[in-house]
Amino acid sequence: MLRRHGVPPVSSVTFDRVAKRFGPHTALDDFTLDITEGEFLVLLGPSGCGKSTALRLIAGLDQPTSGRVLIDGVEVSGTDPRDRDVAMVFQSYALYPHLSVFENIESPLLARGDHTGRSRAKRRERAALVDEAAALLGLSEVLRRKPGALSGGQRQRVALARAVVRRPSVFLMDEPLSNLDARLRTDTRLELVDLWRRLGTTFVYVTHDQVEAMTMGTRVAILDGGRLQQVGDPQDVYDEPQNLFVARFAGQPAMNTLDAVVHVAGGVPHAQIGGALVALPPQVRVASGQAVVIGIRSEHLEIDRRGTLAGVVRSVERLGHERHVICDVGGHLIVIRQPTDWAGVRIGDAVRLSMDPHRVHVFDRASGERVVSQRPAIASLGSRFELLSPEEALALDAAIITAAVEPVVDLTQAELNGETTEVPSSI
Ligand SMILES: Nc1ncnc2c1ncn2[C@@H]1O[C@H](COP(=O)(O)OP(=O)(O)OP(=O)(O)O)[C@@H](O)[C@H]1O
Ligand SMILES: [Mg+2]
Repeated sequence: MLRRHGVPPVSSVTFDRVAKRFGPHTALDDFTLDITEGEFLVLLGPSGCGKSTALRLIAGLDQPTSGRVLIDGVEVSGTDPRDRDVAMVFQSYALYPHLSVFENIESPLLARGDHTGRSRAKRRERAALVDEAAALLGLSEVLRRKPGALSGGQRQRVALARAVVRRPSVFLMDEPLSNLDARLRTDTRLELVDLWRRLGTTFVYVTHDQVEAMTMGTRVAILDGGRLQQVGDPQDVYDEPQNLFVARFAGQPAMNTLDAVVHVAGGVPHAQIGGALVALPPQVRVASGQAVVIGIRSEHLEIDRRGTLAGVVRSVERLGHERHVICDVGGHLIVIRQPTDWAGVRIGDAVRLSMDPHRVHVFDRASGERVVSQRPAIASLGSRFELLSPEEALALDAAIITAAVEPVVDLTQAELNGETTEVPSSI
């Protein structure tokens, strides 16, 4: 853990082939992930995919069935949550209803000392830390109020301040914005990223919200069925999903997908979708007759009289800044994003669609995996740079250089925060 003077500590977290089973049910399987010091990692996936399980394993609220969890390279499996120097913020704010905002934020500081050598803070010291955390989260004006007299957003910020006041080296956040209305979510999203920047601490943030995943994280890790599907820069994951699950899950609206069979004609690969032939990226490695699924983002489709795909307009959703035209193509619903001022189409209209072959994603239908593309490679030939064909690039392998706002008290969080105060069961 890095502890610099006057700067909050920051830790790395590693999952090393971690499995977590509950009886016969596997919540997390063969999960390996390095979360580096100071990064904002978003864990994204559908309900039940293992996101909270992963967080609880970092916090020490659960133990792995097999594999190791490491903080700063040191295995922590079996270590008491209080000795891990992490703080977790839950979806339910878990505030003490009978305590003031000040006392709620102060409560983790009343816990006994821990292995980090920090002893129970003195009263004046505590007050300074609470004031600092409250100021950071814009709560200085409401310190004397009880949680019942706060808005949902303020309660959420108190929960965050309670985590901040402990100066943990890792923040764990489990869908902390899901009880907030849309407007407040957007505001709090920005505040959280700002908080992360100011603290410089490691954030592990769980969500199933696409926008949060795209906008908040330095990296996003996508889980499905307890297995890691892909991890990377959010834009890279959006641009190059490694399998059909990620393609269909990451992004809003979801990527359009259509079953197709490959036809290579004159050396150029095409996807046959029903009776239509759609050109594929020339460098994609496919075989004639291969069953594939092609994917195309809604912003890469156009209603175009010369297009090869035929569809019928089923609905038009106006979103103000853009509209989504939903077409039935051979029984599949396809979404096309358009500016709102684009010429009108009406429900029932027969349309043709075109797409840029370079924007088409190809997945093997049997495995669901992305079909590897042989990227056009730039080879250095003396002082010249030339674009090589896929075949040339392969041959020259060695030369390639691109080559709900419910203040429910959560005993688990109280435990996690190392508190011994008696906790009421409701407000
Ligand atoms: N204590 C438990 N006992 C039995 N099964 C559990 C337990 N905790 C989690 N599970 C199961 O493990 C799987 C993963 O649960 P987890 O809470 O990690 O999902 P999640 O991704 O956080 O979902 P959500 O988005 O709904 O919060 C689920 O199928 C869940 O039912
Ligand atoms: Mg969860």
